[in-house]
Amino acid sequence: MPTPYIRSASPHCVRKLVLLAFDVEMVLLALGVLALLVGPNASQSTPSPTPAPSPSVTIPSTSVSLPPATYTPAPPPVAPVGATNTSVSALDPRIQYSPNWQTTNLCSGTSKSCGDAGQTMTFQFSGSAIFMNLNNAPTGMVYSATVDGVTDVVDAFRQGQDCGVGWSRFNLDNQLHVLNITILGPSSQTPASSISQASLDVTSLVVTSQASGTGSTSSPKPTSSALPSNMVSWVAAVTIAMVCAGISKLFI
Ligand SMILES: *[C@@H]1O[C@H](CO)[C@@H](O)[C@H](O)[C@H]1NC(C)=O
Ligand SMILES: *[C@@H]1O[C@H](CO)[C@@H](O)[C@H](O)[C@H]1NC(C)=O
Repeated sequence: MPTPYIRSASPHCVRKLVLLAFDVEMVLLALGVLALLVGPNASQSTPSPTPAPSPSVTIPSTSVSLPPATYTPAPPPVAPVGATNTSVSALDPRIQYSPNWQTTNLCSGTSKSCGDAGQTMTFQFSGSAIFMNLNNAPTGMVYSATVDGVTDVVDAFRQGQDCGVGWSRFNLDNQLHVLNITILGPSSQTPASSISQASLDVTSLVVTSQASGTGSTSSPKPTSSALPSNMVSWVAAVTIAMVCAGISKLFI
């Protein structure tokens, strides 16, 4: 019986092939990392001619059923001894607004107003309580207020105008928090004739902080998704070294 002929590749040859495949993969990987790294920065440096995407989150208010209000105004507990209130105007640059908000004059002062569902305002503060003064009115809208991951759904509709605290959160740890207000839509109680004027009109925020704390409100930290530039250079250098090593290995 003839033994089947099995061609055995020389071990040296196999090893070389494996090394070659490995090197090619490393080069491709390194180039991919480099492309990822350079890509976003490169596109940032050259302004794109295409128009910016529409900033507004369009939620058709008529076809979306809003979540029911979960918030009922409650009087705050007696302020602890040594607690102080700091008022922050709606126009304060520490409050960050999404693009569609307008500066208005409501409740005998300046205010920020927006009637578009999905628009947000965020504010970083240090304190144990926060109060939002707004134009609670027949045109009042439903909005969400989130602090520390806990969300209230608040309805600012009132039969008559009521300028004052529309939402508050207290008994917080006297430390840094982020408030996120998101407009959800017109109230179900808003008369049809007022829906086109429906708007969330914020006049001010009031922050309560304890004397033992380091002060009143804190400036928001600059947020950036970009890597620190020294980190970028470091990663780029390592990537280039990997590419060079990979290419040189191909020729050994
Ligand atoms: C801070 O303002 C809120 C809302 O007006 C009020 O209820 C609270 O008593 C005030 N606290 C202090 C310490 O003045
Ligand atoms: C605020 O909440 C909205 C809706 O949940 C979300 O899209 C937005 O990213 C939040 N903003 C911040 C700064 O957390």
